[in-house]
Amino acid sequence: MDILIRPLEKGDIDTCLRIENENFSMPWSGESFEAACDLDYCHYLVAVCDGEVVSLAGYRESYGEADIDNVFTDRKYQGRGIATRVLQKLIDEGTATGITAFTLEVRVSNEPAIHVYEKLGFKSVGIRPRFYEKPVEDANIMWLYISQ
Ligand SMILES: CC(C)(COP(=O)(O)OP(=O)(O)OC[C@H]1O[C@@H](n2cnc3c(N)ncnc32)[C@H](O)[C@@H]1OP(=O)(O)O)[C@@H](O)C(=O)NCCC(=O)NCCS
Repeated sequence: MDILIRPLEKGDIDTCLRIENENFSMPWSGESFEAACDLDYCHYLVAVCDGEVVSLAGYRESYGEADIDNVFTDRKYQGRGIATRVLQKLIDEGTATGITAFTLEVRVSNEPAIHVYEKLGFKSVGIRPRFYEKPVEDANIMWLYISQ
């Protein structure tokens, strides 16, 4: 399977909205994806497979730390290592620009996502009770520190 990983572009937004709506109870809006393309402290990558965007991961940077706030893979393409590859490239590129730590929240029941994050070196540092809505659920707070 050939996969191209490249920056998110505005032309990807319709596909991202479809995948987002299929995967999340509180999906991002088109404006959120537009901002992800436009803002200079945002860095979002997509994986393209068979000519279609199938996966996305990205972060907002602040003071040398990156908050990863969206990760998904189209259901048809899940379980093929794609999110792992997109996230690894995101971390490598962020590290190359001087980012020293990455963080994210994930639903405590989201075992596939937690597995991917742990595989990439993220460690759980605590639980934020009732962080999520629809349904209400605790968040696992994870961090990855890059050794200098
Ligand atoms: C989480 C998500 C992004 C992973 O994408 P993906 O492209 O399928 O990820 P990968 O194929 O790289 O890795 C999936 C891993 O989870 C593992 N996995 C699958 N189901 C699992 C389960 N129930 N428990 C534990 N691990 C599981 C797979 O075996 C694989 O690990 P491996 O490579 O060591 O075998 C995808 O499932 C998704 O889009 N989910 C819905 C949106 C979401 O939850 N996003 C994250 C929000 S924090």
